[in-house]
Amino acid sequence: MLRIGLLGLGTVGSGVYEAISTGKERLKRLLGEEVEVVSILIKDSRKERPNVPQELLVTDFESFIARKPDVVFEAIVGVDPAYFYVSYLLEHHIPVISANKELIAKRGQRLHQIASQAGTWLSYEASVAGGIPILAALKNSLKFNHISELQGILNGTTNYILTKMSQEGKSFSDVLHEAQALGYAEADPTSDVEGWDALYKLQILAYLITGSWEYSSSFTCRGISEVQAWHLKAAQKFGLTLKLTACLFRTATGVEGRVEPVFLPAGHPLAQVNGVTNAVMVTGDTVGQLVFQGPGAGKHPTASAMIEDFVFGHQQFKTGCFPAHPGRFASSEVPAPALDSNGTEQKNGAEKHQPSRHHREDYVIAFWQQTKGQREVERLVQNSQGEWLYCEQTEQFGTGLLRMTDARWREELICCPEVTLYPVLINGDEWQTTALESIQTDVESPAYT
Ligand SMILES: NC(=O)c1ccc[n+]([C@@H]2O[C@H](COP(=O)([O-])OP(=O)(O)OC[C@H]3O[C@@H](n4cnc5c(N)ncnc54)[C@H](OP(=O)(O)O)[C@@H]3O)[C@@H](O)[C@H]2O)c1
Repeated sequence: MLRIGLLGLGTVGSGVYEAISTGKERLKRLLGEEVEVVSILIKDSRKERPNVPQELLVTDFESFIARKPDVVFEAIVGVDPAYFYVSYLLEHHIPVISANKELIAKRGQRLHQIASQAGTWLSYEASVAGGIPILAALKNSLKFNHISELQGILNGTTNYILTKMSQEGKSFSDVLHEAQALGYAEADPTSDVEGWDALYKLQILAYLITGSWEYSSSFTCRGISEVQAWHLKAAQKFGLTLKLTACLFRTATGVEGRVEPVFLPAGHPLAQVNGVTNAVMVTGDTVGQLVFQGPGAGKHPTASAMIEDFVFGHQQFKTGCFPAHPGRFASSEVPAPALDSNGTEQKNGAEKHQPSRHHREDYVIAFWQQTKGQREVERLVQNSQGEWLYCEQTEQFGTGLLRMTDARWREELICCPEVTLYPVLINGDEWQTTALESIQTDVESPAYT
């Protein structure tokens, strides 16, 4: 019999407990042996847990370990004390299935080393995009492909907030309160709203794609707290919708990652991903573009990811096939793009059809408040060799669509607090040839140029 331990019995832990309790026959068929939950570590013994036998619950790690679990599901929050528990378990040859993205993003490298030295395994499908089996797809079904780019909506809370703001014209704070009341946002929403939750997930994806943790410390992160309802409304005239995206792409020197709000044209595969749904778009050199979409959080989808992870890991480990290190190529093998004499990336196969990253980043939407913002945006455009495609101003506010030919606009932006800029992420030429042409019939230069 396989003895199961659960660290945590909150939203995710209780989903795992339910799935194991009701799915014992299925698990026996898949694993060839019985499974039984023998120990559950919680923090607060006063909480009511009507569906769980009291004798399974413990409040200290020593008692948890004393029940001798063979496999442990970790579903508590944050790095401490989760790191201590998981490293102890791995050191003692006990496999761990984790949902804890912060733990894996910050301590994954060390935990993999410990697992590898102890000859056991660590898996964390549920830590990225909830029920979507994106890590399994990258680990098992995209081994041959070189992944050139990944774009995703990895945080359901912020996607819910932006969807509601856009569809109902409500303010950020009103929608945030609604989301909290519905249980879609935490009482402390900082990690979601500031983009950290999506950043942890992007760092984990970067490891799966490159086999290295070395790039993730340089990834940049910008959340949605500065987004205002009028930004979304103003951009609708360009056929654009705002999403908090997590993007990973190859550069000449390695891998770059960004979490930030970007405008997407209606034809972009992520533009219609609404509410708490997550999606991940992966571009491989042989397969082309793939889009994975589904529930990014919640009790049952996350439990599903953990149980599938467990079944797969256990079966693989039994047959001796579980890789100690899931990355497909070491960092030194990350293929650098071939550049021609003008520094333009040369593409082959399926990649040929994708516009280059630099090309996509040319378009930016600026919002500012008069009159200081007006001067700032003009300075920014000049310093970044920008070009106005559209500008509209009222006495108080300004909106501009710009084409930036120098990527330094990002650095300039930091010194420009009166202006809010969002990149436009284009997936193909459709938006340029239709939306831009129609806008250009109506081009106005800013009055002050
Ligand atoms: N919620 C989701 O949809 C989702 C999706 C994907 C990944 N995740 C990740 O899954 C993990 C769990 O999330 P959740 O939503 O289930 O959180 P949660 O509802 O807050 O549950 C956390 C559980 O951990 C227990 N716990 C907290 N600190 C502990 C400690 N020091 N020692 C022992 N137990 C402790 C809590 O005990 P008490 O019950 O006694 O308070 C609770 O049972 C997090 O890392 C989260 O990022 C969540």
